Amino acid sequence: MIPLYGLAVETAKPRAVIRDETAVRIVDSIDYDFAKFDGGPSLLGTVLRAGILDAWTRQFLAGHPGGTVVELACGLSSRFERVASDRCRWLDLDLPEVIELRRRFFAETKRRRMIAASVLDDSWLDVVSANPGPYMFLADGVLSYLSAEQVHRVLQALASRYPDSLFAFDTCGRKMIGSQDRHDSLGKMTARMIWACDEPRSLERLGLQMRESLTLNHAPRPLRARMPHRDRLVLSAAAALNLRDFARYRVNLFRSRSSTRAFREWGPCHRHDPEPARRPGRSGPPAGPAG
Ligand SMILES: C[S@@+](CC[C@H](N)C(=O)[O-])C[C@H]1O[C@@H](n2cnc3c(N)ncnc32)[C@H](O)[C@@H]1O
Repeated sequence: MIPLYGLAVETAKPRAVIRDETAVRIVDSIDYDFAKFDGGPSLLGTVLRAGILDAWTRQFLAGHPGGTVVELACGLSSRFERVASDRCRWLDLDLPEVIELRRRFFAETKRRRMIAASVLDDSWLDVVSANPGPYMFLADGVLSYLSAEQVHRVLQALASRYPDSLFAFDTCGRKMIGSQDRHDSLGKMTARMIWACDEPRSLERLGLQMRESLTLNHAPRPLRARMPHRDRLVLSAAAALNLRDFARYRVNLFRSRSSTRAFREWGPCHRHDPEPARRPGRSGPPAGPAG
């Protein structure tokens, strides 16, 4: 609900980083106390994260217009409406009760299917394989809610079954997980994050190669250029002060190891934003995004 609300709030701004009228329509039609998330900096964080993932998805589809995007734990995401190409296939996966709600707002087509399953259940892999590759797997604001063992098992299984595929997901550092009860949005939710990942590059041992690992302060330039001055200041301050271990909240892009083909369009670069100087003992208001 938090990422959805973040996009709806963003859409109402005169200089929105992302405009998502579908998110606005859904928020307007659901009876839920979204206002409790108002005012906190994490809504902006969820928007920037969505923007980074959107940019990578567009780039993937530009190179592979007939490829398949799998959005794991999609919730009520309308990423398909924002970035899908004319020919791509798209699979939205979430738990059965969420897919039931999702069906109120989104229709299935030949190119766009919903899967009611847990990401931990491997029955849906055959549905993925029935669609044309290459594949891009997105997990926006969900892996942190699983245990480390579960995350590793899912990533390893997908990486070994789908070589030459892209994996885009966010990771939270230990400190943010430890202080989530005081977080401006997460503290108001019952779900609790479990998986802390201070060093996303360590996931390479699961059969992945890191392509990019960005802090929210290093969102793509076109995205940052659209940010209102106030939001830019908030972000820069959070990064400079390393609030809530800001530098360890990352949005990552990995590629599974190659079989025969390579994703040449991504080039050889492995961009990994440096961490700012540590400020031991400093604490402050939560800055990372939520959910
Ligand atoms: C914070 S929401 C993010 C939703 C969406 N990715 C977005 O950005 O709007 C987390 C989502 O993860 C889903 N989820 C949690 N555990 C799951 C699991 N084991 N399998 C599939 N989905 C799961 C929840 O149902 C929820 O929709």
